[in-house]
Amino acid sequence: MHRPVLYQEIIHALRPRRDGLYVDATVGAGGHAWGLLQSSAPDGRLLGLDIDPQALDLARQRLEPFGERAILVRASYVSLGKLLDQMGWREVNGIVIDLGMSSMQVDTPERGFSFLVDAPLDMRFDPDNPVSAADLVNNLPESELADLIYRYGEEKRSRQVARAIVVARPLESTLELAKVVSKAVSSGKGRQDIHPATRTFQALRIAVNHELEAVEAVLPQAVDALAAGGRLAVISFHSLEDRIVKHYFRQESRDCICPPRQPVCTCGHHASIREITRRPIMPGPAEIESNPRARSARLRVAEKL
Ligand SMILES: C[S@@+](CC[C@H](N)C(=O)[O-])C[C@H]1O[C@@H](n2cnc3c(N)ncnc32)[C@H](O)[C@@H]1O
Repeated sequence: MHRPVLYQEIIHALRPRRDGLYVDATVGAGGHAWGLLQSSAPDGRLLGLDIDPQALDLARQRLEPFGERAILVRASYVSLGKLLDQMGWREVNGIVIDLGMSSMQVDTPERGFSFLVDAPLDMRFDPDNPVSAADLVNNLPESELADLIYRYGEEKRSRQVARAIVVARPLESTLELAKVVSKAVSSGKGRQDIHPATRTFQALRIAVNHELEAVEAVLPQAVDALAAGGRLAVISFHSLEDRIVKHYFRQESRDCICPPRQPVCTCGHHASIREITRRPIMPGPAEIESNPRARSARLRVAEKL
């Protein structure tokens, strides 16, 4: 069975105990959840969330042996605090958030996440999300499209890409888009070490799923939900997400967040966590060799004070 990214590191970071309460906020195929339930036997319980019903089906099959110890809910982790309140779980011992796409999502062509196979331009994690990648690509004004590709894709040639897209509209499929983007990007100088459409596809996926806003919204709820000594582990796959997690962990591990050189503290802020990882944990060469998609993973861990 396929092992999720940084599996051992997550189990090690969350130190599951036999009666603990755990949350896997992005349960996917249930790999991390399986490890947490296995290591918190016989009484540990886990709430697994995912907005993708297909992912939740996989998790349900995989976690079936754990019976009622695994509770699976189709919901966004943006509602984590509310869901925990409804369940009466006032304090939990560990939370894992594994951002990004699951292998199932990338490997299912119809989901439209991959620029290597032809499929409709979809990219929604949640099939009930009213806006797909095709909607953005075909309807956004050129300048907004360029801003989005620059901001979420860190694509230096965003203006050329947006121009080329607007000229080629309507674009319906992943390969059509990949071709247009590749042509716009490759006309520039410089070595390409990634597929020329990588950044634009990343940008569209982030925008379609409101990924950065979701990460910003879940972190305070997760810290709030932890019992003292409980741990939060977040795996991100690109620098935009990792920056949000790093900044939040830094800020929440400080007693004062007044601007530098302010002589007296007026913010009244108190640290709520301790950073366990000053630098992110990354997969080793063996993991990257067996799962090349793991290469950009970064794990940060914090502990509630
Ligand atoms: C990298 S996969 C998780 C894999 C999982 N850790 C495992 O062991 O199989 C990320 C999952 O997060 C889900 N997801 C994305 N945004 C979400 C959100 N806002 N709320 C809940 N789940 C989300 C995706 O549908 C996907 O299944």
